[in-house]
Formats: sequence, C-alpha cells, structure tokens
Amino acid sequence: MSSASDPASPSTPAPLADAPVTVLVCTSCRRDGDAEDGPRAGARLHEALSAAAQGRDDVRIVGVECLSVCKRPVTVGFADPAKWTYVYGEFDDTAAAEILATAALYGATEDGLVPWKQRPTAFKKGVVARIPPFFAEIRR
Ligand code: FES
Repeated sequence: MSSASDPASPSTPAPLADAPVTVLVCTSCRRDGDAEDGPRAGARLHEALSAAAQGRDDVRIVGVECLSVCKRPVTVGFADPAKWTYVYGEFDDTAAAEILATAALYGATEDGLVPWKQRPTAFKKGVVARIPPFFAEIRR
C-alpha cells in the first residue's frame, strides 16, 4: 500500500527537476481588429511563441482553448508542478520575445515567484492570478 509520503506512490509524483517551463497561451483569444475569417490574436501569439521557442529546451509552448480571462486578451500562463502558476492577460502577437524572456526568469526561480522589480511592466499590469504549487502545503 502506498502513502502520501511514499515516493513511488502514483498520487505523489516527484517534481520534475529541470523540467521546462510550460508557457500556456490561449489560442481562442480575439483582440479588437482581428478579422472574422482570419486567425485570432491568440492563435497568432501561439504561432509566434512556438517559432521563437524553436530549439529551446527550457520552455514548452502549450496552446489551450480558453483560460477564462476572455476580457483581457491574449491570456498566457507560466506553469511548473513545483512552483506557483501565474496567469497574465493583455498580450498581443508581438509579445513573444518578452514572454519567453519572462518565462526564463520564472524558470530560474525555486518557487515561481519572480521578484516584482524584475518583472517587465506588462507582467506587473497584466497579472490576473497566481495559483499555489500543486503539492503546496495546505494551511488550515
Ligand atoms: S478566449 Fe482566451 S481566455 Fe477565454
């Protein structure tokens, strides 16, 4: 029988050391000016991020259909099982380089908490939510 402290337990996988930062990007986000019949801003940003991340092993770009921040497009997020997850809004398809640079700052932290002074302005203004690490200790 396995327990929560059993490292072999399927319910408590070990954090992925040196795992790439997952950069989530909403491919469904639409911005003012998007053509009705063309790719949405979120899809364009996803494409730009994927192209900019080619050959990098410190990030992986994951498109998702909605992050429920639809009024602040385009929405992105940084995730790692052992770190705080962050969700940000209000990016356009020219933001790929800044997003990847900030993802690298996130990846360099132990806990996902990039010091406020190091965060680019877009990541100060655009923060929507932060979510505790998956295995965070629960405070009662
Ligand atoms: S459509 Fe992008 S967050 Fe909902």
